Amino acid sequence: MLQQLSAEELPKVEKEVIDFINTCTTHEELKKSMLYSIEAGGKRIRPLIVLATVRAFQKELTVPVYQTAGALEMIHTYSLIHDDLPAMDNDDLRRGKPTNHKIFGDALAILAGDGLLTGAFQLISETTLDSAENVLLIQLLAKAAGISGMVAGQAGDMAAEKHHVPLEDLKAIHRGKTGALLTYAFVAGGILANQTEYVIELLEKLGGHVGLAFQIRDDLLDVVSTTEELGKQVGQDEKSDKSTYPALLGIEGAKQALADELGQAETTIQQLMEVTEFQPEIFEELLALFTLEK
Ligand code: IPE
Ligand code: IPE
Ligand code: MG
Ligand code: MG
Ligand code: MG
Repeated sequence: MLQQLSAEELPKVEKEVIDFINTCTTHEELKKSMLYSIEAGGKRIRPLIVLATVRAFQKELTVPVYQTAGALEMIHTYSLIHDDLPAMDNDDLRRGKPTNHKIFGDALAILAGDGLLTGAFQLISETTLDSAENVLLIQLLAKAAGISGMVAGQAGDMAAEKHHVPLEDLKAIHRGKTGALLTYAFVAGGILANQTEYVIELLEKLGGHVGLAFQIRDDLLDVVSTTEELGKQVGQDEKSDKSTYPALLGIEGAKQALADELGQAETTIQQLMEVTEFQPEIFEELLALFTLEK
């Protein structure tokens, strides 16, 4: 099921984004810089969750769904470009290629990030959804991406270098920097599938567990995986003395925390099954992507 979505539907999301950037950007080098990072690929996990959630509720995938998923991937890609800058994590490799600033320089990389961020809101505001639904999706995206979500989490991450913060603080950082956008993917899927408020609340809960699991897994992979496999330099967290799950709990402790979050995600799927009709297999397949083995 997910395989089919990845192969047949994700390219439609990518097309929305690439066509949008090509049509709207009036500066050639800026356009090249944005497309460089978008076209480098990546796992596209956030748009895939949007599509999978809509599908799980047996609703049709329409252009506004692709646009919403595309806007989310634009914001995620911007966050990576900025995350890699020398003033932040100072990374040279991303999605198997030199980082944006290594090719285009710091100034254009910053601007490419700015362009993807603002462009995302332009794209999502141009859907044909009814205006109340559209405004809600825009507002929640702003919250998830911004000063109570990803940006706040990134600020917390930078402030937690060189000293290890308590687990509760680390959880809050991870929920912000990574959990917020992943949670949005589930919630936006639910809204696009016209689900009730209670179902959306459960999707938010599911996204919270999956989002935290995703960053714990990312922290673990930085220790146990390889640069070739990840397409980004491993060992960077230790080098920058970041607060991470393995740094705080050890590898086994972090693996246990990952399993706990996935277990709670599983429980939330069971709760969803009690209140609404949907295809749980899709969520089960999604959850499998968040285990360390995948
Ligand atoms: C990397 O995200 C940054 C985190 C939030 C952990 P992804 O692992 O989804 O990166 P891409 O999109 O596949 O490159
Ligand atoms: C970044 O977390 C989360 C973002 C908001 C981009 P990391 O700094 O751990 O992500 P990677 O490991 O560089 O992909
Ligand atoms: Mg970072
Ligand atoms: Mg980083
Ligand atoms: Mg990381």
